[in-house]
Amino acid sequence: MRTKANACARRLICSAIAVAAACACGVAPENVPELLRTFSGVDVKTKDEWEKARAPELLDRFQKDVYGRRPATADERGRISFKVYDERAVMGGKAVRKLVRAEFDGPLGKFTFPFNVYIPKTRSPVPAFVSICLKHRSKVDAGNVISSAYWPVEHIVGRGYATIGFLTEDVAAEKNTGSFAHGVFKCVEQAESRTDESWGTISAWAWAASRVMDWIETEPAIDARRVGVVGHSRGGKTALWTGATDRRFALVCSNDSGAHGAKLNHIRLPKSEDIASIPKYFPNWYCAKYPKKYGGREMTMEFDQHELLALIAPRLLCVGSASEDDWAGQPGEWWSAKLASPAWELYGRNGLVAERFPAPGEAQQDGDVSYHLRPGKHFLTSYDWDRYIDFADRHGWKERRKSETPNG
Ligand code: GCU
Repeated sequence: MRTKANACARRLICSAIAVAAACACGVAPENVPELLRTFSGVDVKTKDEWEKARAPELLDRFQKDVYGRRPATADERGRISFKVYDERAVMGGKAVRKLVRAEFDGPLGKFTFPFNVYIPKTRSPVPAFVSICLKHRSKVDAGNVISSAYWPVEHIVGRGYATIGFLTEDVAAEKNTGSFAHGVFKCVEQAESRTDESWGTISAWAWAASRVMDWIETEPAIDARRVGVVGHSRGGKTALWTGATDRRFALVCSNDSGAHGAKLNHIRLPKSEDIASIPKYFPNWYCAKYPKKYGGREMTMEFDQHELLALIAPRLLCVGSASEDDWAGQPGEWWSAKLASPAWELYGRNGLVAERFPAPGEAQQDGDVSYHLRPGKHFLTSYDWDRYIDFADRHGWKERRKSETPNG
């Protein structure tokens, strides 16, 4: 059990790391809320205290104040069913492609959305990545197995993983429509009954990722205990929220998720997005309360995004940034991963094992939290996918599969 002296020593080490890392990336966080202390001021020293007191209050805070509360009816297992409407061999017989439609029987009506599945042909269940796709339908369309850097299906399958993609626009509009009477929202609750704490679009997309997981649990060719979720930018924010709310995902990959995703708020990065700009551009992604309550309060708010990342512990987490993506605030993304790491330590695991912000091209993958900085701009590329797959491989997802595959 950890003692007060241990906690104190840890804080000193954290400050030392802060100074060293600040030298490397030029900027350090300030007054970051203490991850292992409850809102009422009680120190959290064990995994039980974390699971019983701290993690639930953090999840509740992110629900009420950032991503919004999703009505419980949306997640009722009995309301969802699936239809595989096409199934065939693809990639010269190396994989099976299934086109699936999720059918949700909501309290206010039915809602359907499609997703596409690619499974390498092997004798035993394979691990998988769920891809939250933002790009135009042609990038996701299984009709043509195209090589897209954004979702490199053949490459992922070639590395022995199944992959399942859905398109965010099929679930809820990306742009602000001025109302929530569309997509899955309209089948769950009346737009007029929404409050400042009602779920935003990121929560709706996370809902869809969880429904895909419901289907995975019914698919014998995929090992549901080894499933990662990957998203880029607003999709990366969604991947994090999916991982925080749905513990069935064993790995969460946030690619360039930036502000209101992996990026810490308590850090001064003038070229990066702030909370106050949300109402102007993307009010629909979050709950209405978030910018109203926290706009301009980044440096004083009583919680921060490292605490969202910590909700993924002790599962695997990858945070990816791009060197030319200042808007996403890369050092803030690194710091969140670093400052979330004590949650992994409560489980006797290592979080991010690195003491300085990396150089472009470097991947820090020694612990259960991975960080990499891809040289280049804001995008999701095969380079990023390889880092996420490498990380799963490092954690034994590959070894097991190797011994099980016919050609392994
Ligand atoms: C904008 C927004 C970001 C978001 C990005 C995207 O740049 O400010 O928060 O991540 O769009 O999703 O593409």
